[in-house]
This record gives sequence, C-alpha cells and structure tokens, in this order.
Amino acid sequence: MNGRAKIDYNTLVKTDRVNSRVYTDPQIFEDELERIFHRGWVFVGHRGEVPNPGDFRLKRIGLQPVIMVRDHAGKVNLLLNRCRHRGAVVCHETRGNARNFRCAYHGWTYKLDGSLAGVPYPEAYDDSFRREEYGLTRVPRVAEYRGFVFGSLSPAGITLEEHLGRAAREIDMFVGLSDAEEIEVSSGINKYDFKANWKLAVENSMDGYHPNVTHESFVSAVMERIKNNPSPEHGAVFDPNSFAAGSYGFAKDLGGGHVMLDYGFRIYDPLNRDPLPPVRAINASGEMHLSDLRRRTSPERAADMLREGGTHTLVFPNLILIGLHMRVVQPLSVDYTEVCLYPTTLKWLTPEVNQIRLRSHEAFFGSASLGGPDDSEIFERIQTAAAADLEPWNIISRGLGKERPDDEGYLYGDMTSEITQRAIWRQWKKMMTQDAGTAATRKRGSRTSTRS
Ligand code: FES
Ligand SMILES: [Fe+2]
Repeated sequence: MNGRAKIDYNTLVKTDRVNSRVYTDPQIFEDELERIFHRGWVFVGHRGEVPNPGDFRLKRIGLQPVIMVRDHAGKVNLLLNRCRHRGAVVCHETRGNARNFRCAYHGWTYKLDGSLAGVPYPEAYDDSFRREEYGLTRVPRVAEYRGFVFGSLSPAGITLEEHLGRAAREIDMFVGLSDAEEIEVSSGINKYDFKANWKLAVENSMDGYHPNVTHESFVSAVMERIKNNPSPEHGAVFDPNSFAAGSYGFAKDLGGGHVMLDYGFRIYDPLNRDPLPPVRAINASGEMHLSDLRRRTSPERAADMLREGGTHTLVFPNLILIGLHMRVVQPLSVDYTEVCLYPTTLKWLTPEVNQIRLRSHEAFFGSASLGGPDDSEIFERIQTAAAADLEPWNIISRGLGKERPDDEGYLYGDMTSEITQRAIWRQWKKMMTQDAGTAATRKRGSRTSTRS
C-alpha cells in the first residue's frame, strides 16, 4: 500500500449511488492505476494501425509509455518506451515507420522486436556486459482478439478470453460488418481532452438517458431533417415521440464491467420488417450501398448484416466501440483525461461509401462535432460540482429492480436504465477491493492461447 491509508471502497460505491470522491481523490487515482490499469487487461491498439513492418504508434498502459510496433515477422510487439541504459524514451514520434529505435541520449539502438542491436563504443564494457540482457522491456502479457491488441503489465492473471467474456461477441459484431472481416484504421484520429476524471467518459459512453437532453440541439436538427425529408420507412422507424421518450433499445449488462446499449433492437426488430441502412435515409448513395452489399454477399447475408447493425459497447475499462469507431479513454491524472477516436473503414466497401461513413461519424463524434463537445462540457461541470460535497452521492438507481434476463441470462433494462452504470461500478469496486494475490494467482504460470 506504499504506506498510504487504506481506502474502504465498499463505503464509496453502493448499488444505487456513488460517492463523488471517486472522481477527485488522487489516492483513488493511484489505486486505479495499480489495480485496474497496471494489473488487468487493457486495450492498447488495433493491428490495423500498424499494417506494415516497422509501423509503430506510441501508446500507454495506464501511465506507462508503450511502443506498439510491427516487426519483420509480422508480429505486433508491445515494448516499454524506456531506454535500458539511463532511461530516456527511445521513441518520441507518436506514429511512423522505423527501421529501429535509436536512443537520442547515447545511441543505444533497438530492433523492432525490442532486442538491443548495438551500443556505441562497446569496448568500454567488460565481458560481463551481454547485449541480450538489455532489450527493451516487453509488456509481460500480450494477447489479441480479432486484431484488437490487449496488454497486461501483470505476468499472471486471467486470460484475455476470460476477461472479454460475452463482450467478445460485440467485437465480432464490430469486425463482422466487414464481409472480408478486416477493418482498416488509417483514417486518422479524433483526439480531445477534458479537465475531469476518466470514469465520467466511460460511464457517459453507455448512458442512454442523456442524449435527448445533453445533445438536444443535435436531436432537434435530426428531427427537423426527418420532418423535411419524409419517407415511409424513416417515419416508421424514427417515431419522434418514442425516440424522445427513450423507449427504443435496451441497456445491457454483459458481465465483467462490459456493458452495451443495444440499438439493434431499436431500429429493426420492433418493426419486424426488412432492414434499411441508416445511410439510405440521409444520402442518395444509400441505395448504391445496399445493392453493392447484396451483390458482394447475398440478399440474406446483406439483410443479416444490416439487421445486426453495429455495436455500442464498453470493453472495460478503456475501449469503447460505437458504430464505426474505436474509442480509447486514457486517464492522465485524477482530473485530466484524453480520449482518442479511431474511425475505421471497411476494405470491401467502395471509397464513396467509406467516405459517407466517415463524414457521418464526424457529424456527431470528435472534438469539433455536434455531439462530443456537449459531453466533455458535462464532464467538467461534474468535476467542478464534486467540490460541493456536503451531500456527496451521485445517484445511479434508475431502472433498479426492473432489470430482466435475456435468453442467455444477461440482465437488461430500458434504454434509459442506469443498469450500465451500476455494472461498471460493480466491476470497478471488485477490482479496487481485490488484492494483488487474488488477482494474479488464479492462472499463475498459465499462458494464454492467443498470446502473440
Ligand atoms: S539513455 Fe539511452 S543510450 Fe543512454
Ligand atoms: Fe453524449
């Protein structure tokens, strides 16, 4: 415990309320780094970000700087970005392509797999100096699922498959929208920061209660557009009264802190009719997309893919998949957070359709969009208000007691239920109260089958 007073997390998080100290206390932030980010599985990046040998991106696991780099064998390595000599970062470009990593201080040079290639003037070292002992430190456990690369700084613990659980199927959904099952992550990054705690962005991403209020200007613009551009399908799908009441779709607890807003039900199932892609309603190219999809797959597969739609899922603690983008929440301090959105494109789609998808993504998400800044503003308002802690409890009881199981037993509530927030906090509390021994010993010594 580093000599710090022990915090009783059971008193801070209750089933129906959360003490706002969880957003403001620097010691809690330290504990989160240690117990969630530096111990468990954390999403680091997607293989599609480094498609060629030598491609690299700078990442973080918690606050530890990491290089994600593809080597000549095609393997994606996660290397701690710290020279083994006297500790300078060996790579300071955020992305690029490198033949090797040469430290700017004394010139120690590392290969793409992290091994030490050479040092200047080696003759000054005696025979005990062995190059193979001084490669860049590797992230102890690295595992991939469908191209999503996760790392754990703990050498032992549950496998990635165990960590992902039911959320793996939502990753399947995200990837499966590409018939070639390949996504490209080369369209750049929407990056923004805010002066508030990282968990506010995590909770908000799976909050089906806020959109019609926080994003009222966006919602009314969409409604206006629908009113001015009526089509039978559109009108039936997006009944403004139901939409405003938040009655479409479901909020679902997938276990392990993974949660989702299931919009798939919303758009298609209640109507029990042939699905139509949202792109059709807003752009004439929608018809082209639909016929292209049918031609490349089959009418049945096209219908399935559209009925499934995308996903809207949190993979605890830091990966969010919404529509076509991957979103990574990066804590930097207790009251400062960075968020990166990686819009993806699909190889099998025509460039025109990929363009339309990107433009529609930009309309709502990202730092200069009609949606994202609304949320960041709210996060900072919550952080400010947390100082008024005579009554410190934030309430997450909406829909409590009204949850019901789906066919597989996963609990869900109405779209505006706070079942998702409760599930996030339950996992948070579990990890914050679990001691290192319990977290690490269950699978001690085992290797994950997906280890890269
Ligand atoms: S600190 Fe990197 S070579 Fe000296
Ligand atoms: Fe929002």
